[in-house]
Amino acid sequence: MKLIFRASLLHLLLYCATHTAGVNIESDPVVDGEGLIQAELNNTVSLKCTVGGDTLDDEELVWLRNGLTVKLNEENKKGASSVCVSPVIYDDNEATFTCQLKNNATVKASVTLRVTYPPELSGSEEVTVEEESKLVLSCDIWANPPVSSVVWALNGSMVDLLAGDFVVTTDGSISQLIASKVERSLHEGTYQCTANSPKYGAYSKTFYVTAADKTMKFPLMPMIAAIVVVILTAILAIVSRWRKIAKCFKK
Ligand SMILES: *[C@@H]1O[C@H](CO)[C@@H](O)[C@H](O)[C@H]1NC(C)=O
Ligand SMILES: *[C@@H]1O[C@H](CO)[C@@H](O)[C@H](O)[C@H]1NC(C)=O
Ligand SMILES: *[C@@H]1O[C@H](CO)[C@@H](O)[C@H](O)[C@H]1NC(C)=O
Repeated sequence: MKLIFRASLLHLLLYCATHTAGVNIESDPVVDGEGLIQAELNNTVSLKCTVGGDTLDDEELVWLRNGLTVKLNEENKKGASSVCVSPVIYDDNEATFTCQLKNNATVKASVTLRVTYPPELSGSEEVTVEEESKLVLSCDIWANPPVSSVVWALNGSMVDLLAGDFVVTTDGSISQLIASKVERSLHEGTYQCTANSPKYGAYSKTFYVTAADKTMKFPLMPMIAAIVVVILTAILAIVSRWRKIAKCFKK
């Protein structure tokens, strides 16, 4: 392990030395074989840029993140400069950090971040669904690297799509199990979605689904009628009061 670390650091240094005359970037974690810094979400990445070779060591350095200048303290510019990405966020994925000489932008070195994170699946949820209505269970499977598979289980065995008239839709960020007309005998039970990450392993979430008796739909028409009656009564009350007031003025 240590040997590999040393070897890749050496590789990194050689790479930088041979490809960029004048500035080098060292990083923790180190650059991998694909030329990327693999960083886990919420972790920290440290980058240190130094001038080397025949470049004067009081040359001022500049850092750019995706082409935009990073603000540096005065004492963090001459000869060597460090920046720290902490914590690493989703948005840092594929972000490129470039260190260059302030006076000569052709003297530069760059590194790119690859932010990895597992799917955010855990815990359980109680779901109550009325009979004959639609059941939709959703699992957030967004991850980097993307999950390699998603499996839905009911009462411990793989969901039988045909038997339960289920549909599963899965895209890059969400997987849904849908039953369009709930029947207690077919759909009540314990569901689990499991997303398999090639880097982080299996992540799952559980749903306890209960079917409730079908209730009458909300009585919309009688409600509207009642509201109209209340409003009319109020208007009549005001009108009759006005009449009285008007009458007493006439006297
Ligand atoms: C990253 O941090 C956020 C906020 O603290 C937390 O909700 C999330 O679970 C963390 N994710 C990972 C992969 O550590
Ligand atoms: C910038 O640096 C490059 C490489 O060291 C050099 O060839 C070039 O002359 C320099 N340009 C200026 C304006 O100093
Ligand atoms: C799942 O298990 C529960 C509890 O044992 C049971 O009531 C339910 O009918 C089962 N669901 C299916 C679809 O078999």
